[in-house]
Amino acid sequence: MVLQGVVAVDGPSGTGKSTTARGVALRLGARYLDTGAMYRAATLAVMRAGVAFDATRTDAEGNDEAVAVAVAADLVMSTDPAEPRVLLAGEDVGAEIRGLEVTRAVSAVSALTKVREHLVAEQRRIVDETLADGAGIVVEGRDIGTVVVPDARLKIYLIASDHVRADRRTAEDASAGRTADAASTGADLARRDRLDSSRASSPLRAAADAVEVDTSVLDVDGVLDRLEDLAAERGMLTPALAQVGGGVPNGG
Ligand code: DC
Repeated sequence: MVLQGVVAVDGPSGTGKSTTARGVALRLGARYLDTGAMYRAATLAVMRAGVAFDATRTDAEGNDEAVAVAVAADLVMSTDPAEPRVLLAGEDVGAEIRGLEVTRAVSAVSALTKVREHLVAEQRRIVDETLADGAGIVVEGRDIGTVVVPDARLKIYLIASDHVRADRRTAEDASAGRTADAASTGADLARRDRLDSSRASSPLRAAADAVEVDTSVLDVDGVLDRLEDLAAERGMLTPALAQVGGGVPNGG
């Protein structure tokens, strides 16, 4: 079966958003957009430009230069779930944007209202183009169901226990060659949760019509099965053959 329309996958860090969103896109022949990677790449652009940045301010005042750099960043996202890539000025920055320095700075840069406005517009453009192509798309982030695509036909809000989240992030860091221990990773997750949930501009929260899925009690296949069932219930799945040359209505 092939997915039509938009699946929004939101939730705090370490709840399995990337594994889930990418996995469901692969399973259902859809595109995949990692919006966190966009905020991370914009953050890297600001860091590389070496401009002054006041992490205590979320308005442009005092951060005009950082906002200008983030908004002007030449960012290209590939939406193939088999090989999701983030290009900054033509360079693949997939590994660098997940390093410690960007991870530490990203919540502050992503709290800047003007940066969010710019990236949200860019995310909507990618979603609209994908739908116009007749493909479905799974979009992961923090504000997809609430702000970016509020009319998405399926909204998922992932949760997981604190220790499961910290253990996952630590294992991810270790496998990517980054040293980390569960205690400091847990503290970093808590700090980012706080920043992401308390910012004025589209804070992290579940949409009223989102379905909560707890990834600490299901394995990956269990989570993917659940999402596939929910997409089927909403009439978002069509037989793969119907896709050949078929026009698909545009819409969330
Ligand atoms: O999902 P992630 O850890 O790669 O996201 C990186 C940061 O970007 C995260 O701390 C919050 C921010 N973010 C956001 O504000 N809005 C989104 N739609 C996605 C991510």
